[in-house]
Parts: sequence; structure tokens; C-alpha cells
Amino acid sequence: MKLPDGQTAWLITRYDDALSALKDRRFSKDKLNTGQKQPWTPAFFKPLSRNMLDVDDPDHARLRGLLHKAFTPKMVENMRQRVESLTEELLDAVQPRGRMDLVREYALPLPTSIIAQMLGVPSGEQHNFHRWSSAIVSSQSSKWGAVRAIPPAIAFLRHIRKLIRLRRDKPQDDLTSALVQTEEAGDKLNEDELLSMIFLLLIAGHETTVNLIANDTLALLRHPDQMEKLRRDPSLVESAVEELLRFEGPVETATERYALEDVLISDSTVPRGGLVYVVLASANRDERQFENPDTLDITRQNNRHLAFGQGIYYCMGAPLARLETQIAINALLRCFPNLQLAISATKIRWKKGLVLRGVESLPVEF
Ligand code: HEM
Repeated sequence: MKLPDGQTAWLITRYDDALSALKDRRFSKDKLNTGQKQPWTPAFFKPLSRNMLDVDDPDHARLRGLLHKAFTPKMVENMRQRVESLTEELLDAVQPRGRMDLVREYALPLPTSIIAQMLGVPSGEQHNFHRWSSAIVSSQSSKWGAVRAIPPAIAFLRHIRKLIRLRRDKPQDDLTSALVQTEEAGDKLNEDELLSMIFLLLIAGHETTVNLIANDTLALLRHPDQMEKLRRDPSLVESAVEELLRFEGPVETATERYALEDVLISDSTVPRGGLVYVVLASANRDERQFENPDTLDITRQNNRHLAFGQGIYYCMGAPLARLETQIAINALLRCFPNLQLAISATKIRWKKGLVLRGVESLPVEF
């Protein structure tokens, strides 16, 4: 198909094909490895092409191993209390008003503050980081999007460089300091790689879980029987969030992949160099894999959805995203027994863009 930016892409939509494509080493994440030229990039942005989602092994394995050392399960589990107290604070603040925009006042501030705190971004700058990251991720939605994203990307990078400088001089108990120390310990993570890793974590931490919390709330509001079931038995929240990831996941397509050779998938051949998108949202509704795929069933068993991808690029933030969303959804249902949409469902506007799926705003009453 033709993308809004004029490129031609192959979409992989069936569950089995998607699963094998995500693990298939004949697809490269690095365009240069297919013999194609890197499009011209201003020098300032060059460091970002070393982002771990855009490189192949052995660099990918090295970067993933280093992030694994700094971004530990213990660090995520340590955030549990902060996530709980922040959800309480956000809900207390809107309670007397009886209504809120759930995106702006709940789904957004929660994961954005948490990832910013984990990385050590000062609280006064968190709002700016969100503005810049939204502008950058929506850049794919039009031909000139990439040009419009230049000023916010410059501002974003300048501030990350400043944060790295500050932590190099005076380490704190945060993820940026841990990554700086990993870099210094063995000269294994160079300055550009460090910059692009922090950039990736901030973008991934800002733009995905926000959409998951808002999409989940909307899906539950549209399926009141499922919402009631969860309200009555909050211990169902783990399987509920997995089902919501499958049913209305925030990442519609995995990131770009390029065929290193001609690759036959079902009856079609993706030619060498062809751009491929694995459509996770479609695979997750494949009737050959999931019984009644268009039914939301928060007690679904054996739910092997692909919302966090699969294979060597499997999402490293999945435990954090799960922790935040489970706490956020249960707290919302517990505090607001009469939660309902404050506008007609037909008026809800979805964000533009190919990769991420989420609503612009979600006015609710309680
Ligand atoms: C609901 C929330 C999230 C979803 C649905 C999600 C989904 C994904 C998917 C599908 C991929 C693989 C992309 C591909 O193969 O092309 C990925 C990779 C990644 N995600 Fe997430 N993500 C979420 C939240 C997060 C968070 C909160 C973080 C970090 C704070 C994060 C960090 C990463 C990283 C670092 C990678 C790259 C892994 C690698 O290259 O090996 N994600 N994510």
C-alpha cells in the first residue's frame, strides 16, 4: 500500500505471518543493511539513527544487554508505590468536579511523570518533554510532518544532552545516571547511543501507556458488562489488561522492517529492500488464533497477543506498562462507581499517525 508520506509498504496482517515476521532474521531493522542509502539527515539528528529499535545484531544485542542492566525489574517494582500515590492524587484532584478529560488529567500525567521521574527529568520540564515527544511521534502522519518535527526534536535533544551532562557531573539515583555509569564503566555505550536510548525511553514511556489507559477505559465504557465484572472482582485486572492490550492495543503496527532478500509470505513476495509493517492490531483480532476475536472478554485464557511485539525486539517497558495500567484502571473503577462518557461516542476523535492508536481526548463524568 501507499503510505501518507508517499512510500510503498507491505502490511503483514495474519497472526501466524506476523509472529514469524517479527522473529524472521531476513527482515532487517536497519535500512543500510539492505543496501539502501540513508536519507539525508541533519548532523544534529545523526545520533538518533543508533536507536536500538533501528539497528540489527550485534549492535542491538549489545544495546539491549546494557539497557537490561540499568532498567531492572527491581527498579520497575520500586515504582509501584509512586504509581499508586500518583493515581490517588490525580483522582482526588478531579473528584469534586464530577468530570474530567481522562486523557489530559489522568492517562497522560501518570506514565509521563513516572518515566520522567525514573530518568530524572526535573518536574518543571516534564510538560515540555511531553509536548516535544507528541510532535515527534505524529510526524509520520503527513508528508511534511518530518519537517515540522525538526524544532521540537532539536529542543528535546538539547534537554536530554543537558540531563546527561548534569548526571555525569553528579550522579543521582535514577536511570540516566545508571546508563551514564554503564557507559563510563566499559566504554560500551557511546555518547550518541546513550542519547538515543534516553530519547527512545522517553518517547516510548510517553506515547504508549497513555493511549493504553485511555483506550482501555473507553473499551470498558463501551462494554459495561465487562466493566462491572472487573469492578466487582478487581483481582481480574491482570487478565483484563492483557485482553485490553489485545482488543485495543496502543501500538497498531510494529516499527519498520526491511527485507534483506526476497521473502515469500503466504502467496506474496516482499522484494529485497521492501518496507514491511507488521500490523499488530490486525494479528490480535485474527479469528484463526483467537476465538470470537471481536468480543472483549476480560477473563480470556491463553491470550498470546502481540501487543508488545515478539522476538529480539520484544518491548522492554512491558512490565512498567502493565504495572501502571493495572493500577490506573482498578483505581479509576474503585473511585468512580458511576463512571460514564460525557460526550457521544461518535464524537470521539482518534489521533493521526500510522504506528500508535489513541484518542485525542476522553471527556468522562462520575
Ligand atoms: C502499553 C504500552 C506499550 C506498548 C504496547 C509497547 C509496545 C512495543 C512494541 C510493539 C515494541 C516492538 C516494536 C517492534 O518490534 O518493531 C516495543 C519495543 C520497545 N519498547 Fe515498548 N511498548 C509500551 C510501553 C513501553 C514503555 C513504558 C517503555 C519504556 C519505558 C518501552 C520501551 C520499549 C523499548 C526500549 C523497546 C525496544 C526494544 C528493543 O529494541 O529490543 N515500551 N514496545
